[in-house]
Amino acid sequence: MLKRMLKVAVLGLGTVGSGVPAILQEQKDKIEQITGMKIAIVKALVRDIEVKKALAQKYHFQLVPDIKDIVQDPEIDVVVELIGGIEQARIFIKEALNAYKHVVSANKDLIATYGEELTTLAKEQNVSFYYEAAVAGGIPILRTLSSSLSADGIDEVLGIVNGTTNYMLTQMAQKGATYAEALVAAQELGFAEADPTNDVDGIDAAYKMVILSAFAYGMRISLDDVKIQGIRMLQSQDVKMANSLDYVFKLIGCSRKFDEGIDVTVAPALVHKNHQLANVNNEMNAVFVKSAGIGESMYYGPGAGSLPTAASVVADLVAIAQNVQYKVLGIPFNIYKKPTKLAADSQVINQYYFHFEVLDGKKQFEQLRSLFAKAQIKIKEMIDYDTQVIVLTYEASAKIKSKFLKSIESTSDFKLISVYNIFD
Ligand code: HSE
Repeated sequence: MLKRMLKVAVLGLGTVGSGVPAILQEQKDKIEQITGMKIAIVKALVRDIEVKKALAQKYHFQLVPDIKDIVQDPEIDVVVELIGGIEQARIFIKEALNAYKHVVSANKDLIATYGEELTTLAKEQNVSFYYEAAVAGGIPILRTLSSSLSADGIDEVLGIVNGTTNYMLTQMAQKGATYAEALVAAQELGFAEADPTNDVDGIDAAYKMVILSAFAYGMRISLDDVKIQGIRMLQSQDVKMANSLDYVFKLIGCSRKFDEGIDVTVAPALVHKNHQLANVNNEMNAVFVKSAGIGESMYYGPGAGSLPTAASVVADLVAIAQNVQYKVLGIPFNIYKKPTKLAADSQVINQYYFHFEVLDGKKQFEQLRSLFAKAQIKIKEMIDYDTQVIVLTYEASAKIKSKFLKSIESTSDFKLISVYNIFD
């Protein structure tokens, strides 16, 4: 059989971009065997040609400074977008799709924001648009949701999908590091985004939860539909309290289906030490899925890094090569689509951790107990640490919790320090 060549152009040769040629070379024989094609990078778009010369020479591709050198080149079959950011990447991808190139991207910000637009354009142009690496880098979660779990009804997706914050929280819990020390270490190790705001404020995780929700429930939500709380305000005393109660703090992306719609949040939460997610430490990511048929399943791995993320990018290239061979083009990565409905607060149920500071432990202990009873929030455990009171509750709706928080706003006898969700 005559071997064909799938010619690829890469936009951006940063951490992930420089891993792609390495994986392609390392797995050359396997890729050729399963696709019947050679996949070769022929061009890369870079800002500074001098800096990337050695890499280009090593892997025999040409460096170009202008996107036109790629989209106007009829030889190129696939464009791999790895420049990040939203607007410029959107323009480049649209140009590539309009020129009938298949596109692979690892850009969660872009896909969570303009995924529908780009998917529609790809379908119109009869080309493929894949982005496995956009969520949890090296974990093959999107293809798992869209194919292996296609026959299962998903009820809940919990994700530790930001390596930077997971690394920071692990350092804070296990080594007693301060927030600032943990952030510097995460940046030095290269986990954080160039501007770590999106990491620590939960935005990066929220983009990923938007994409995961689309694959899990067929519903397209926007970033504005996600209730987001980052880890900036997390107090080390809460980290210590959680530890003493057999919980660990994790930044949890939580996407759940209720009777009337879905609810998606990103927030620090207490995860019981027996929960599978509690053992996902440092920069590692995991996605925990509850579904009707399989029950509980968890997908664990590195959420970032050159080779792990590049392996996901190359898996998309392999899928495109197979599409080309079998002449199945223009099928969206995620076909599942349902009308988007968000659950009302009265439907969204959680267990809660409340931390209060009180003036007079004994007196306010009882006062708090009766306020919880009045709000119809059942107390599971109430712990008195002198002037600090921790209350762990049974399940109550988000609506009841908000009402309770309003009802205690004006009291001066105690101060609410924090409230977090609990995952047992
Ligand atoms: N900054 C991201 C993280 C990189 O820390 O997980 C991968 O999206």
